[in-house]
Amino acid sequence: MGDIEVFNTVVSLQSKLQSDYKKSKVGLVPTMGALHEGHMTLVQKSIEQNDCTIVSIFVNPTQFNNPSDLEKYPRNMDRDLELLKEQGDVIVFAPSVLEVYPDNYQTVKLDLGQMGLVMEGKFREGHFDGVVNVVNRLFEIVSPTHAYFGLKDFQQLAVIQFMTEKFSLDVKIVGCEIFREKSGLASSSRNQRLDESQLDKALVISLVLNQAKMSAKSKSIQEVIDEAKGTFEASSLELEYFQIVNPRTLMDLDEWIPGAHACVAAYCGKVRLLDNLQMTST
Ligand code: PAJ
Repeated sequence: MGDIEVFNTVVSLQSKLQSDYKKSKVGLVPTMGALHEGHMTLVQKSIEQNDCTIVSIFVNPTQFNNPSDLEKYPRNMDRDLELLKEQGDVIVFAPSVLEVYPDNYQTVKLDLGQMGLVMEGKFREGHFDGVVNVVNRLFEIVSPTHAYFGLKDFQQLAVIQFMTEKFSLDVKIVGCEIFREKSGLASSSRNQRLDESQLDKALVISLVLNQAKMSAKSKSIQEVIDEAKGTFEASSLELEYFQIVNPRTLMDLDEWIPGAHACVAAYCGKVRLLDNLQMTST
């Protein structure tokens, strides 16, 4: 069991960091709460690699393009703190919207180019503008030396890496593998909104990804995509996209390259699920 200290304001967090962790390795794990084992793998990595770990818990309104998704986003601070306590010593930063975006807040603009127009950028307009602003603001508040992001949100990680380079930020971005349930389903806060039968139906996502990876050994990209779409059509999920992309530029591929990556978004009932898998080795 570790020690948990919770800060709700920028000033109180910064004075703690100034007094106790000046010149230290500071790891930041940005989250929107409703924590699960997937988040904990990021927290563990940060604890291992730094003198102190800050987990931010903030449901960022600016990255939701759908008000009902924001409203339904699961929130459970007490349980989050219990889970974090099991990991070790952690500082929790749980600010209000006004702490993150004070009245004099100047929105940051970053042209993501094509990367911002595909997949999540295409289907969730404005989503990455929200992510860029909140992560940049959290970096400004915490000044971490290391920041941890999951490959679960493959495009988000690419966007954050791009932002860090463009803004010449002095922070090391650490990507962490996807944590999956025993069933194969990628852990997600949104899974809490699935009932038993939906949890079962959602398994088609990881199944299709694994099937695609097998097929990638002998079939063309188009054949693999057609096969995956066919499996989704026969399932009860509603596919939004299944794309095989260049892992760096996120552009669709016509031919296999090393590290080709399949990305999926699909609705299980009203819940939008994301997953991805590397198709070919690097
Ligand atoms: P959230 O969905 O809470 O995720 C926080 C971090 O945990 C992200 O980096 C995400 O990729 C990672 N994560 C979630 N599920 C995971 C899993 N199964 N395996 C590994 N990592 C996983 O992503 C966000 O919040 C927000 O967009 C945020 C970056 C906090 C900005 O608001």
